[in-house]
Amino acid sequence: MDRHIFLIGFMGVGKSTVARGLSRLLHINNRDTDKMIENYEHMKISDIFEQKGEAYFRECETRLLRHLQTREPMIIACGGGMAMRSENVALMKECGTIVLLTARPQTILHRTIRTHKRPLLEGHKNVRDISALMNERMPKYEAAADIKVSTDYRNTDEICREIAEKLGLLS
Ligand code: S3P
Repeated sequence: MDRHIFLIGFMGVGKSTVARGLSRLLHINNRDTDKMIENYEHMKISDIFEQKGEAYFRECETRLLRHLQTREPMIIACGGGMAMRSENVALMKECGTIVLLTARPQTILHRTIRTHKRPLLEGHKNVRDISALMNERMPKYEAAADIKVSTDYRNTDEICREIAEKLGLLS
């Protein structure tokens, strides 16, 4: 493999879990942009949002993508807002293939209800609000994606196999 695989999609869609699964299946390293930003900034994402603001976090994401362009091919789980900036999409397209993961709002709610690490979901943990933000973002997710894979009612192995097959990475 000579390019990155970027996993994009809404919060709670399973990007980090699928990145780990693909890493095992394809024997390629995986990274998580949220975790990388937390490490560089020595702060949790929720604290970055609270203390430095969302705009600062979005700059961190773009800066990180520029850095990732110089790295060996990896599976990269992106924060859910990564594909909202056209500059980010252009950077990802230059050095990788973009895989959109999707799930129903009900699935997202179920997967995120007990955690408090996503500032944009706090106070919005209901199907109506999740659907509204998802619908607002979907055109940009879809425009960015090279392939699209649903994660509803499926285990990680099945999802990873579908991605690998669609990308022609299984011999
Ligand atoms: C965000 C998604 C989060 C994280 C931040 C903002 C978003 O990542 O980057 O809270 O705008 O959708 P996950 O998609 O991994 O939850």
